[in-house]
Amino acid sequence: MNVLFSFKQLRTLLAMLAMMIFSFPDAVADAPSLIIKDLGEGHCLVQINTNQRYLLLPVEEVMPDVRVSMIVNNKEVKAADVRLAVNRVDYFVPLDLSGYTGKNVLLKFKLGSNDPVRGKLSAVCCKEMKLADTFDTGNREKFRPTYHFSPLYGWMNDPNGMVYKDGEYHLFYQYNPYGSKWGNMSWGHAISKDLVNWQHLPVAIAPDALGTIFSGSAVVDTDNTAGFGAGAIIAIYTQNSDRQVQSIAYSTDNGRTFTCYENNPVLTSDARDFRDPKVFWHKETRRWIMILAVGQEMQIFSSPNLKDWTYESSFGEGQGAHGGVWECPDLFELPVEGTNEKKWVLLCNLNPGGPFGGSATQYFVGTFNGKEFVNESPSKTKWMDWGKDHYATVTWSDAPDNRRIAIAWMSNWQYANDVPTSQYRSPNSVPRDLGLFTVGGETYLQSAPSPELQKLRDISKKRSFRVNGTRTVKEMIPVNEGAYEIELSIKNLHADVIGFRLYNDKGEEVDMQYDMKENRFSMDRRKSGDVGFNENFPALTWTAVESGKNELKLHLFVDKSSVEAFGDGGRFAMTNQVFPSEPYNHIDFYSKGGAYKVDSFIVYRLKQ
Ligand code: FRU
Repeated sequence: MNVLFSFKQLRTLLAMLAMMIFSFPDAVADAPSLIIKDLGEGHCLVQINTNQRYLLLPVEEVMPDVRVSMIVNNKEVKAADVRLAVNRVDYFVPLDLSGYTGKNVLLKFKLGSNDPVRGKLSAVCCKEMKLADTFDTGNREKFRPTYHFSPLYGWMNDPNGMVYKDGEYHLFYQYNPYGSKWGNMSWGHAISKDLVNWQHLPVAIAPDALGTIFSGSAVVDTDNTAGFGAGAIIAIYTQNSDRQVQSIAYSTDNGRTFTCYENNPVLTSDARDFRDPKVFWHKETRRWIMILAVGQEMQIFSSPNLKDWTYESSFGEGQGAHGGVWECPDLFELPVEGTNEKKWVLLCNLNPGGPFGGSATQYFVGTFNGKEFVNESPSKTKWMDWGKDHYATVTWSDAPDNRRIAIAWMSNWQYANDVPTSQYRSPNSVPRDLGLFTVGGETYLQSAPSPELQKLRDISKKRSFRVNGTRTVKEMIPVNEGAYEIELSIKNLHADVIGFRLYNDKGEEVDMQYDMKENRFSMDRRKSGDVGFNENFPALTWTAVESGKNELKLHLFVDKSSVEAFGDGGRFAMTNQVFPSEPYNHIDFYSKGGAYKVDSFIVYRLKQ
């Protein structure tokens, strides 16, 4: 919309204001393109007369959701909950009008009765909503990660439907296109050839009469078992309304468009929490297996065709952590390092009840015979990541070279809706390649940063030095904009504490330590920057580390709002968000109770 009004337009506008009708001229015509009518008691009707692509809706995050209904030819064609601005505009969200050119498009909504603005048409949303041909997604907020995946705008939670096909990694995700807080759950979509450069695609699956689109998975139906075509990508997901049911949708154009199956839902239950199907082809029994989170257990179902499902077994009672509901499962087989053996891994995301509060990913190692999963260590609880921001972890189906690649949502339900970003919330972790290793007779999951991340490396600097007391590296790399990777090898481990502190000139810091007496690694973000937006955010997270090593290897991925630590090639992982007011561009190495040698300290600046 042209914001510079001509005198004539201004006069017209004023005249209409007087009639309690707000109109906004567009660039081409004097005829008002938006006519907003006050229907009383907060009810508003907007008549849209335009060939422009978007209606930009003003959002004020503290306001309650308002149901906005888009009507064409007397039928509701779209509906969404939007926190329409009453007092001030935090940001805009686009409502896509394409496909309705030349039609009489109406928007209906009711502003809440409790908001302070009496005459509803003076609410800021009525004054500020505007038509546009483009929506600016070039937004670069201070905390917007450089190389972690984040949505162009709007809210994101769990990664969904990850599948590899014809050279493309598909990443779908829980998405709110109408605001940066949770709501309007849809599947957002992006594709990548290398797991690090992502192309954003339009929303793949939007809510329908069966409900919003919750988490799930996708498979390639190579043998056309479902009858939608050989090689179709089939998405299997939960639809949420008053109850939760499982539905499917298929794509015969490599994921560019999806059609919802006409006989949805394909699986129902009387259980309240019944969600997040992960489906895979079990080649030994030649059928599809679905693992589903149901309350605090996982249920396993089988199917010949992705449409008809048979219950097989349940897993969970008396196993692992039960501090909250179980969500987003995964089940796959992995080789055990240094053996010819393979074992099955069951990923189980849990919220709340993580080791440092809120959300976290636990896992079980054992066997699966096509019907039942058996945990080989029922008395142990195993966590995949020891930070606070690694949730809803699931893996790609059909990844090449037998790789098992995982990605997580890098946040925590304790504060995800409050983190200090605006046009988007929140990113994913870096992709990780999974493996299994055994220590002391117990098999654990290894999560190593995927090798593709090395493509991001820009300039680098390597140093080595001894630390006895404190050793400061003032400039880790020139022009440090907050996106870098550190590879560290530490030898001559003759200190009680081996520590390093990333910090900036504002005194904000992330302190990491190996406590060599207690055999633990910790990360402290209590002074990392903005920590005050939620009482659960400040935290020190820690994990036990293997003892008796003569070298410590640590790999850190730092981005504008996160630090991910990988010890010993991923034998432990720790992911924490941070919100510093400027990048941490200095590091202090320190020792307590002795000295040690930094055999190799390499810093890579990472490319956008
Ligand atoms: C996990 C989760 C899932 C659900 C989705 C809804 O973070 O609660 O169980 O499908 O988010 O957005």
